[in-house]
Amino acid sequence: MPAPFFPTTRFTAATAPGALPLLGHAAALLRRPHAFVAGLPAHGDLVRLRLGPLRAYVVCHPELVRRMLTEDRVFDKGGPLVDKAREVFGNGLATCPAAAHRRRRRMLQPAFHRDRLPGYAALMTEEIAAATASWRDGDVIDVPAAMYRLTTAVTARCLFAAHERAGSLPVHESMDVVTRGVARRVLLPPGADRLPTPGNRRFRRAQRCLREITRRLIADYRATGTDHRDLLSTLLAARDEDGRSLSDAEVHEQVVTFLLAGMETTAATLSWAWTLLAANPAVRARLHTELDTVLDGRPARHEDLPALPLTARIVSETLRLYPPPWILSRTATADTELGGHRVPAGTTLLYSPYLLHRRADLFPRPHRFDPDRWLTAARPAPGVYTPFGLGARRCIGDAFGTTEAVLALATIAARWTVAPTPGRAVRPTRSSSLAPRPFTATLTHRVR
Ligand code: HEM
Repeated sequence: MPAPFFPTTRFTAATAPGALPLLGHAAALLRRPHAFVAGLPAHGDLVRLRLGPLRAYVVCHPELVRRMLTEDRVFDKGGPLVDKAREVFGNGLATCPAAAHRRRRRMLQPAFHRDRLPGYAALMTEEIAAATASWRDGDVIDVPAAMYRLTTAVTARCLFAAHERAGSLPVHESMDVVTRGVARRVLLPPGADRLPTPGNRRFRRAQRCLREITRRLIADYRATGTDHRDLLSTLLAARDEDGRSLSDAEVHEQVVTFLLAGMETTAATLSWAWTLLAANPAVRARLHTELDTVLDGRPARHEDLPALPLTARIVSETLRLYPPPWILSRTATADTELGGHRVPAGTTLLYSPYLLHRRADLFPRPHRFDPDRWLTAARPAPGVYTPFGLGARRCIGDAFGTTEAVLALATIAARWTVAPTPGRAVRPTRSSSLAPRPFTATLTHRVR
């Protein structure tokens, strides 16, 4: 067999320091994942890691990240986490390989078309107001749990607007158990997800319940043929270029994909925003001025968005400091090169929005919460600011998620001060999602 030909390879990627025998860099990644990854650019644009038996490259330079994410057939969705996620919930839009992706993405894109947003936003406004209606002055809430309940309610409503019980307990509970269960299962050793443990039984029960709910809804929607202007209606109306629609199983797969991709990410963004606002009273005061002027205490609506630029900048800056999917992977499908480095077929490559967003050469004083850095008209070069990824696999729900976050932040901050309980630093979980660990906050009703 001829030797692989790498015409432009010049360099050998540096290996990150601190590898242990057998474990390699897995120990450092488990102990202090974010600091470890953020420190890698000091060792090169492409840095080699050893994670037990797996070799992987971390792509540290924004231009190389751009190339990798835009050449999606050479650098396809893959890597151990994606492979496991495929096993658990199939070949939905987020996990399918590039070969199947174009058709799917074209079919699903109309569900997230700009014209659909005002309709979803109207449902968001209602659900955000309902989720916070029972809050009382002086209440102490678990912030991440409350934000997760809120984004669950919003997602359920936007998926199944016509389901009069969309907000009912079985839907929410099953969504919660399934989304968290998938995340946990991705980390389990092979076979452990089939053991008859209470957790596994609960997961399968919830999966059945969600499948049954979507099955019934699909049948209802198909029978009446009404467009409810929700995500499920658009999934059912989707056609490929040959006029073929998605099967019921594929619709279900997409529903679960949207739940998984949308609930935790937006909830984490909102939770971090409350910690950042609490630590930055000057920004919070300016936010209150914006909200008092525009909303005067009422819930935020879609038409308010152009008048809430500071709220939007706070969301952008929160996503910069705490991008929820903070480390993501690709697999090289052919022998190739990246930045002059040889990349053999089958190599796992990682990119980290967290790493890029904390580079001092890309964002001056990178650890500082400064929403006004987004006032400048110049947009960062592609590959620099990547909370939603880039290229063909860029988040399909980016405008949906940002709209939800801005409406929720505005509606809540207009009426409440959310003050995290002092004395304990809020720490991130150690998973592939950069979400805060549980923390409590006291709600104070704002009297204007
Ligand atoms: C603040 C909120 C959100 C953030 C930060 C976020 C982030 C991301 C990122 C980084 C990716 C790209 C992954 C990669 O490069 O491998 C992605 C993909 C995706 N996201 Fe989001 N997301 C958010 C909200 C949502 C929402 C609300 C939905 C749906 C309702 C959604 C659905 C998806 C889907 C389906 C994909 C896969 C797209 C594809 O491969 O074509 N996301 N998201």
